[in-house]
Amino acid sequence: MPAKMPSAAPNPALPGFVKIVEVGPRDGLQNEAEIIPPAVKVALIDRLSAAGFADIEAASFVSPKWVPQMASSGEVMAAIARRPGTRYSALTPNLQGFEAALAAGADEVVIFTSASEAFSRKNINCSIAESIARFAAVAAAARQHQLRLRGSVSCAFGCPYQGEVALTAVAEVVGRLRDLGCDEIDIADTIGVATPRKAQAVMLCAAQQFDLARLAGHFHDTYGQALANIYACLEIGIASFHSSVAGLGGCPYARGATGNVATEDVLYLLHGLGIATGIDLKQVVEAGQFISAHLGRPGASRAGNAMAARWLAESGHV
Ligand code: HMG
Ligand code: MG
Repeated sequence: MPAKMPSAAPNPALPGFVKIVEVGPRDGLQNEAEIIPPAVKVALIDRLSAAGFADIEAASFVSPKWVPQMASSGEVMAAIARRPGTRYSALTPNLQGFEAALAAGADEVVIFTSASEAFSRKNINCSIAESIARFAAVAAAARQHQLRLRGSVSCAFGCPYQGEVALTAVAEVVGRLRDLGCDEIDIADTIGVATPRKAQAVMLCAAQQFDLARLAGHFHDTYGQALANIYACLEIGIASFHSSVAGLGGCPYARGATGNVATEDVLYLLHGLGIATGIDLKQVVEAGQFISAHLGRPGASRAGNAMAARWLAESGHV
């Protein structure tokens, strides 16, 4: 007889609850070359809200010339079945984007800049300082309309154009976003180059400028390090992460960068550690299978694909 495995008891050194922001409908789909019908996006978002996500990044009010895939954001926001308890957020690079997000009924707006000057110019066509100046108007409007404000810092761990990014550059931009009144700040590994000790160092550096409890890790999985980075962040008390169903995604202005860490894989890890998320993994796997079928390729979640294959085998179809 094999020895009985101890049951997974919550580890007191790790957070007991972790918030997952599902970014698949935005970060995931923005990178798809084929325009996805709004009805498919709506069906995906509704499946995700039904799975229990309290936070879904659902839309992006950016220039349609820059990111054509997101041009249907208003239509999508108008058609989703709003689940009480789910916050639907949208990217807003400027006041024009804010006004569109407000009209669409976004619950939270996201201002996004970079710790890398080179990436800022490629992604939003302005310097970091200019982006912060633009965001001041967005932040004031968000306050006036009592919308939550989230800040996002791209390339906090490395940049596809300039390479290394200094910790001081991360600290500087986090401080600027804090001063604008962000409720939460996301520290993003846009090109997925971080490894665990680096992940901790960058997060701890950001935490010198902003409350650690309101920092989130946004890890792309280009080099397969995202789960290890998330675990390292859990060890220092970070309890909020972004992920993308089926591992969809990438940034159109960071060529070669692959998707966000897959939500199914993050949930499998967290639930296995005894950490609560409030999210039903089975329904997320089903949502991942749904969007992967639409895209005509297998999803990038190892856990999601394994679970779906097991269900198929159990149902006698294989
Ligand atoms: P620009 O060309 O410098 O803007 O772009 P502009 O103010 O000169 O305006 C030019 C045209 O864009 C005008 O239209 C404006 O009306 C229009 P025209 O007169 O030529 O017909 N425009 C807009 N239209 C719709 N909504 C708007 C908007 N603003 C201007 N909000 C801009 C500057 C910021 C708009 C542009 O660079 C842009 O849209 N960039 C977005 C790029 C993007 O979406 N990247 C991906 C998201 S970020 C990401 O994925 C990273 C993240 O996941 C974290 C991580 O992983 O790193 C968050
Ligand atoms: Mg991203």
